[in-house]
Amino acid sequence: MKKSFVFPRGTSDILPEETSIWCALESQARKLLRNYGYCEIRTPLFEETNLFARSVGQTSDIVQKQMLNLAAQGAQTDAEDIQSGSLSLRPEGTASIVRSYIQHNLARKEKLSKLFYIGPMFRGERPQKGRLRQFHQIGVEAIGAGSASSYLDAEVIALSVNLLKDFGVTDFVLKINTLGSIEDKVQFAEYLKDKLSDQVDHLCPDCQNRYGRNIFRLLDCKNKACQKIIHQIEFDFSYLSQESRDYYTVVKAALDILGIAYQEDPCLVRGLDYYTHVVFELCCDKLGSQNALGAGGRYNCLVEQLGGPQVDAIGFALGMERILLASSQESIQLNDRLDAFVVALGDEAFLKAFQLLFALRSNQISADMRFSGDSLKSQMRQANKVNARNVVILGQEEIERGVIVVKNMDEGNQDEVPLEDIQQLMIKLRT
Ligand code: HAM
Repeated sequence: MKKSFVFPRGTSDILPEETSIWCALESQARKLLRNYGYCEIRTPLFEETNLFARSVGQTSDIVQKQMLNLAAQGAQTDAEDIQSGSLSLRPEGTASIVRSYIQHNLARKEKLSKLFYIGPMFRGERPQKGRLRQFHQIGVEAIGAGSASSYLDAEVIALSVNLLKDFGVTDFVLKINTLGSIEDKVQFAEYLKDKLSDQVDHLCPDCQNRYGRNIFRLLDCKNKACQKIIHQIEFDFSYLSQESRDYYTVVKAALDILGIAYQEDPCLVRGLDYYTHVVFELCCDKLGSQNALGAGGRYNCLVEQLGGPQVDAIGFALGMERILLASSQESIQLNDRLDAFVVALGDEAFLKAFQLLFALRSNQISADMRFSGDSLKSQMRQANKVNARNVVILGQEEIERGVIVVKNMDEGNQDEVPLEDIQQLMIKLRT
């Protein structure tokens, strides 16, 4: 028996009956993002592996376990960069956007670049519900010398919340925290080490390793024993400078002004190395263990670390598959209905209907018909199947009377318009 192929584990096909909701989600998102002054940027789906190692972090789970390298098989290609495995599919968008920002010297062109992206990301994870190897993000990055403002933090956080609300996601919680400046983060790590120093032997083997390599990762551990130890830590923010505390206080005040509800979570540190100051996560418990709908934060050192100017930045990304799991899909405005399905009966009518079909399409009326000479009943069934708003019927009898019949499929009523008056037909189809 011949082997039949299926999609790779952790990926999926988005079939025609699902693409309309994806397109609607994307266009609704684009509308709101433009409304907030963000412009779309598109970068390659793969980049140099080192870009991700240097930004997301060498010790992060993403770089340690989840990078999908483009390794060449033997002599199939002689491109050196691919053979050495130094290219990887992008696991997230921030690193690529920052690379592009630096490469094209956007800092020279504008004081603040407000960018967004929508597209697939790739992580070699163990697939489960809500955790895929190819998934899609709607992401936002605000980068530039003018970006170090608590009010921009509030704008970006509010935008993430309002995108979710716009998609009909209601039962989610916004969690926020601050890691402080890059210097504060060193203090914060020392603080945690000190608090946990006499508990190291009771931590899981992974966390014992994290204690030495990257102590923040430890706060994300799902192990019950580790969780218990972590919850005993008192986070008193003594590791933050006064300036960082003041900055955070203004972010919270700005969120209050905007009426954005949040919960402070001192354990929220995020699994990517580049964050400084505010970090946030949007969680929805009905999603089970993969409950983050989106997340983000400030990253004031990344642009410089990757060879660019010293400019600050903040951003977030929402997971589109998880949004679709959590949203009430009626809030996503579908635009997947045909304005008209053209039904032709008889040879002469067919030719006129065929011409009419193209006249409608060139006048921005979405329209379709079948060319197989089926019966009226069968063509009506097909019009129903494609969920057409109207059916335009043309038979020999209509041609003799010089009319076209227009049936409104939602209301069930039908009308006639003169065959030669396409303007009147279009008005009817648009209302
Ligand atoms: P992240 O937390 O790694 O952050 O991902 C953001 C969102 O992408 C997650 O909250 C989740 O909804 C979705 N996501 C992540 N991994 C998967 C997966 N394997 N399957 C399905 N959905 C997934 C970032 O990616 C940062 N770049 C966000 C950011 C932008 N920070 C600043 N700017």
